[in-house]
Amino acid sequence: MNCTSLYVVYLVLCLYFCRFCHCQLQCNSGRAQRQKRIAIQSPSGVQLSGLDHCQYEVTPWSNQVCQVRIDFVRLELEQPQLNATSQMLECVDFLQVQQRFRICGKNNGQHLYVPLQRGQVLQLLFTLATRSPQSVWQLTLTQLECPDSMLPSSREMDPAVFAMPVQVSGLPSLQNLLPRTIFGGQSGIGSGNGPAAQLIQTLRSPSRNDLEMLAPLGCDQYWQTTTGKIVSFNFGSDNYVPNMKYSICIKGMANNEISYTIDHLSLSKTNNIDVAGVGYDADCQSLVSTVGHSSDYLLIPNSYMVNNAALRPTYYCGNGLTAEKLIARPPFVIYFSSDAQTSASETGFQLTYTVQQRQVEL
Ligand SMILES: *[C@@H]1O[C@H](CO)[C@@H](O)[C@H](O)[C@H]1NC(C)=O
Repeated sequence: MNCTSLYVVYLVLCLYFCRFCHCQLQCNSGRAQRQKRIAIQSPSGVQLSGLDHCQYEVTPWSNQVCQVRIDFVRLELEQPQLNATSQMLECVDFLQVQQRFRICGKNNGQHLYVPLQRGQVLQLLFTLATRSPQSVWQLTLTQLECPDSMLPSSREMDPAVFAMPVQVSGLPSLQNLLPRTIFGGQSGIGSGNGPAAQLIQTLRSPSRNDLEMLAPLGCDQYWQTTTGKIVSFNFGSDNYVPNMKYSICIKGMANNEISYTIDHLSLSKTNNIDVAGVGYDADCQSLVSTVGHSSDYLLIPNSYMVNNAALRPTYYCGNGLTAEKLIARPPFVIYFSSDAQTSASETGFQLTYTVQQRQVEL
């Protein structure tokens, strides 16, 4: 192969697989086809102020896609506002991720994992009611594949997923030639067992990298570094939004433990929303669910306080725990839950964590 044909092959692979390049998806431009990594950026100021919504739809790039990791490199939308009728804090401008998350305010550096069923389309909808020219976002979507054995009904191939993409306006018709004509068929580049076929097989099977990036089931966030800072959504700007429930998982081995330093914690307690002070367990979540009781908390299983190891709470709330240190044993998960009510003191949390070798058993 000479240079030109190598370059053509590179371009073709790039177009089809998008594994080696950064595919950019435009607002309200229909469905993006079969791209492993996709970058999303807010339209420029003039264009943006003319939009009341901005939708992105992403089809899985292969039949084995089971999760999408969304990195909010930048996400700055209007702050939530108090609805005078309902007396609830609401996102006016927001990003809706599937039916699961509604996010507003400042969330630079956050990420989310979205589980997908076989062939399911990822939907991201920005609602821009205020038409603020200050709104800005820059997201990276990474589609992650599960090994076939991890997928439900792995023998059932959905023909819709394998069907050729329909013509997408603006995309070169070359896309329509793929993959059957060029890569497949009796005589295509990828036919038989030759090196090209093997290359394509490799590109199609989940990479090691994917396996390492996959979040355990039920984790909305997944931290894989041994140390880091975890903050609540919209932290440092204003209040967190009501009715938010999600789980944060951290990668660790069975013989590890995690040390958390509470840099900031301000969540309301069950009875007296604005009463200051330390909140543990029953202060945070009452045993019997009662309508109207406030209940915001961080749930950290298997944890104890470093300065008083006899104290082994599971729920943490209030605003008296700043600068405290905790140790948690597996499973390494934090569950955040906010109720429907909001008070001025509900500013969220910031934790610094370190995964370390397990110390003596207490
Ligand atoms: C405020 O809340 C009411 C009642 O829940 C709802 O009908 C209305 O649409 C909300 N207003 C705004 C501006 O969102």
